[in-house]
Amino acid sequence: LLSSVHGQVIDYENQINSKIDSLLREMTLEEKVGQLTQYAWHKIMTGPGGLEIDLLEEIAQGRVGSILNITGAKETGDVQKIAVEKTRLGIPLIFGLDVIHGYKTIFPIPLAEAASWDLAAIEKSARIAATEASAAGVHWTFGPMVDIARDPRWGRIMEGAGEDPYLGACVAAARVRGFQGTELNALNTILACAKHYVAYGAAIAGRDYNTVDISEQTLREIYLPPFKAAVDAGVGSVMSSFNEINGVPATGSDFLINGILKTDWNFKGFVVSDWNSIREMIAHGFAKDAYDAAGLAIKAGVDMDMMGFTYSTELSNIVNQNVISEKIINQAVKRILRMKYALGLFDDPYRYCDEQREKELLLHKTHLDISRDMARKSIVLLKNENSILPLNKNIKSIAVIGPLADDTENHIGSWSARGEGRDVTSILAGIKNKVSSNTKMFFAKGCQINDEDKSLIQEAVTTAEKAEVIIATVGESRGMSGEASCRAYLDLPGVQNELLQALYGTGKPVIVILSNGRPLVLKWMHEHIHAILETWFLGTQAGNAIADVIFGDYNPSGKLPASFPYAVGQIPIFYNHKNTGRPEKPNDYYRSRYLDIPNEPLYPFGYGLSYSTFEYSDIQLNKSRIHLNDTLIVSINVKNTGQIPGEEVVQFYVRDLFACATRPVKELKGFKKVMLNPGETKKITFELIPADLGFYNQDMKFTVEPGDFKAFVGTNSVETLETDFVLLPK
Ligand code: NOJ
Repeated sequence: LLSSVHGQVIDYENQINSKIDSLLREMTLEEKVGQLTQYAWHKIMTGPGGLEIDLLEEIAQGRVGSILNITGAKETGDVQKIAVEKTRLGIPLIFGLDVIHGYKTIFPIPLAEAASWDLAAIEKSARIAATEASAAGVHWTFGPMVDIARDPRWGRIMEGAGEDPYLGACVAAARVRGFQGTELNALNTILACAKHYVAYGAAIAGRDYNTVDISEQTLREIYLPPFKAAVDAGVGSVMSSFNEINGVPATGSDFLINGILKTDWNFKGFVVSDWNSIREMIAHGFAKDAYDAAGLAIKAGVDMDMMGFTYSTELSNIVNQNVISEKIINQAVKRILRMKYALGLFDDPYRYCDEQREKELLLHKTHLDISRDMARKSIVLLKNENSILPLNKNIKSIAVIGPLADDTENHIGSWSARGEGRDVTSILAGIKNKVSSNTKMFFAKGCQINDEDKSLIQEAVTTAEKAEVIIATVGESRGMSGEASCRAYLDLPGVQNELLQALYGTGKPVIVILSNGRPLVLKWMHEHIHAILETWFLGTQAGNAIADVIFGDYNPSGKLPASFPYAVGQIPIFYNHKNTGRPEKPNDYYRSRYLDIPNEPLYPFGYGLSYSTFEYSDIQLNKSRIHLNDTLIVSINVKNTGQIPGEEVVQFYVRDLFACATRPVKELKGFKKVMLNPGETKKITFELIPADLGFYNQDMKFTVEPGDFKAFVGTNSVETLETDFVLLPK
């Protein structure tokens, strides 16, 4: 297992195994079940309440293996002491927490980070999160969330890397490397957990926890790859999801957990259920009662019960009545103990409980700087009419208007661990820090984020009229995305659009700074507003990062990791769709299209502007006919035709023109983020081997099928240059 965290072969694997085996021989069945049981620290619930228990007493009796939501070097140390000193065998607890985008120094929400397409930066962000969390006694994060999301109504789209399996897989691996580092037993690394296994993002109608009904081809080609990438990167745990898939709850799916994850992929870590997801199999109509649910979950391969209170109450009976063999329990215990060993908890259970270290590391200056850099990289420039951005720092006057300007609470986004609004630089403060001392600044709130009160709009307009330029800060509140936070309408909530219309009515240039956790419907804004910056929720350094971009200290380089719909009626919308037998064609009636809106999204996957402009030319292949053992090399020239240095995410897609199972119209197969000086041209190359063209055929066998393909390279999923190639038969 240690070797799986980065490929080095570490030979005390055997040593650990024999230690675990001898410990296991000493354990009673009740103690074993204890290791498979996880409870929430009583003050902090991130899900619906469970049974009443005396938690400290349960720990002292050896009936608990893990606690979630407990943090702080002191508090974790105190509780660890109970496990180590009071229980018969002194097995340490493992403490888990949702460290999703930072612990105390909050980074951009994961969807925003994915917009950077900068894997090294994303890895570093997870590294810092792990450094702070581990200093606060946390051993294990419930991240990365690697669910593909094609439906922005689903509030949890903010936690993942968007709609594409290739980008999603790259980001998943980067985050696992960042959290776990090269040594799980280092002081500043934590165990990662790829979640939610699997297809949780495919909830029907974008409603959280809803049923999932997708083809096995879609499951294997779209939803599984980021999990596979996490496993290949050595992730130490996986969380089973709440949803059912094609009639079987993921938490009870032997096919998915024992079959694909543990057998086909040889995953050596452990599987934890989601919060109460074992017991919820009763409500799904899959288990008769808690006894049945516990049996189904353990048999499917779920090793730890998070807050379901089913393993703790039922497993011993199930074994004693010979419904399942104790061997299955032993396997689960072993998987969990291996991770406790890997973290070094058996060597020193208190090694993560150093209050001095905690004080030194949380909100460390270096962490804040790295967070600011990640935040700037996550911003996507959606529109910039007449190059109104960047603004000059010596501008005479600016009006900053809107509910998200003088705000610190919302910018940390959902799932912000122990981050606090008071540590956040607001947009207003960020701009104030940046402009010259002669710049006059005006501010008005204009309205709340989400209510119907229009009474502040007029005052905001009057304020705005005093300034040369209007910066309008609008969007969602942090609670409008994340778990159980789905929306049916994706417009700006409340009366913010009316505020924008009133500001636009002044005739002054308006720059919108959007803060939100998901793609929104921005049709009116796109058609009228002069410049739009998608800033998501950027975390502790939000205001500074946004000001860096507004005033040109950073040239925006982000690209959308998810399509922005033209209208809600298009959802689910994603670039890698199939062609259909009647793809849209102008002036042809019987076609796959809408009568009232275009098929295309407002902003496609991969889209994002820069203060520079880039010109693509001369797409070339090393050969246009390749054999199964060849490597295809695609090259293209990219030139910075703008006035300032800028970074461009060059994207490489392919299309398989016909196959025994239909293929998407485009599939991302590579990307490179390159810095170009004004006037500079770089030749960018991508390599592809035939296995990259493989897919699941009708028998669900992974197949590489010879035939005709297209290669596309460009600035987003729509604007590309293309060329053809052939994969020759054997
Ligand atoms: C439920 C969420 O679905 C999951 O992502 C999270 O890790 C757990 N609650 C624990 O907070």
